[in-house]
Amino acid sequence: MKVLKIKTKSKNYKVYIGHNIISRFNNIIKKEKIYFQKSLIIVDKKVPKIFVKKLNSKITSQQNFIYYFNASEKNKNFNNVNSILGKLFKNNFTRNDIIICLGGGIAGDLAGFASSIYKRGLKFINIPSTLLSQVDSSIGGKTGINNKFGKNLIGSFYQPDLVITDTKLLVSLPKREIICGYAEILKHSLIKNKKLFLFLDKNLNDILELKKNFIEKVIFESCRIKKGVIESDEKEVNVRKSLNLGHTFGHAYEAALNYSKKLNHGEAVLYGILSATKLSKKLKMLNNNEYNLILSHLSKLKFTNLKKFFNKKDINKIVIFMMADKKNYTNRINFITLNNIGSVSINNQLNTNKVRNFMRSELIK
Ligand code: GLY
Repeated sequence: MKVLKIKTKSKNYKVYIGHNIISRFNNIIKKEKIYFQKSLIIVDKKVPKIFVKKLNSKITSQQNFIYYFNASEKNKNFNNVNSILGKLFKNNFTRNDIIICLGGGIAGDLAGFASSIYKRGLKFINIPSTLLSQVDSSIGGKTGINNKFGKNLIGSFYQPDLVITDTKLLVSLPKREIICGYAEILKHSLIKNKKLFLFLDKNLNDILELKKNFIEKVIFESCRIKKGVIESDEKEVNVRKSLNLGHTFGHAYEAALNYSKKLNHGEAVLYGILSATKLSKKLKMLNNNEYNLILSHLSKLKFTNLKKFFNKKDINKIVIFMMADKKNYTNRINFITLNNIGSVSINNQLNTNKVRNFMRSELIK
């Protein structure tokens, strides 16, 4: 088991990472001195029952409740937050009580948001069940829900009190879901750590097959990179924006396909990383050697052909979605570009025409 300490201005907490550590839930919370009388477990319905039973059996609070959440972007909304708040009010939860989330990123965002607003904040433990949430959304405190105006437009920064990352939860996930989380691990290595990138490149198969030592190591390293970023910029004023590598493109690709199952979030991010790599080369920021290393890695993953999904007719739509990104404050689009593997720049030099030309060069050739 590995433990990572996270220190932000608003809260210090730990991330425990290991195989089958849900069964050590009691020992961990005792060690971390997290006390509560009442608990509400928000369970993502996709999590196999065996894990829910195991967690439930470890909770020794005076009263424990379960809220089953049918996790989807559509259900990540105020109605579900309201139902959760209703359950907490009805049962007289105080700020000293706790929400424990067992689920993927969507469930974690919703549970974290409900925790942050109930009586201005109650305790929150996150037990992320997907690779994506283990390496990314469970740490850093971004919480949120969607509305008809867009994704995550309502939310808060609210750090958890503890994260328990149990790699045994990953075993039941489909391969596609693993690739989805892997996209964020790759992203973290490209932002900050070439050594990790080379490790990923050398051991890709063992990692994707979830071999215990490999997966635990890369989850830990990935979280360690994110830790460094959020510790210096919890509220995304500057450097935290670098975690957006591949996401300006990726979000636009997802949106342009109307969030269809043809391209899920992590896959869109991998294509986004491909586009960001090409853009960085075009802007003469990234040298040939590093460019080829990244492209060869993406080709091992089979993510090199954006034309499978888009053609020149889609360019306008894609650019409009990029302009709508909530991280833009002017008519220029914010891109994270690569200087080399392990170092990025926050780049807002590109106006929409240049972006359109770049997309043209990607999709018409
Ligand atoms: N997923 C990017 C961030 O937490 O800032």
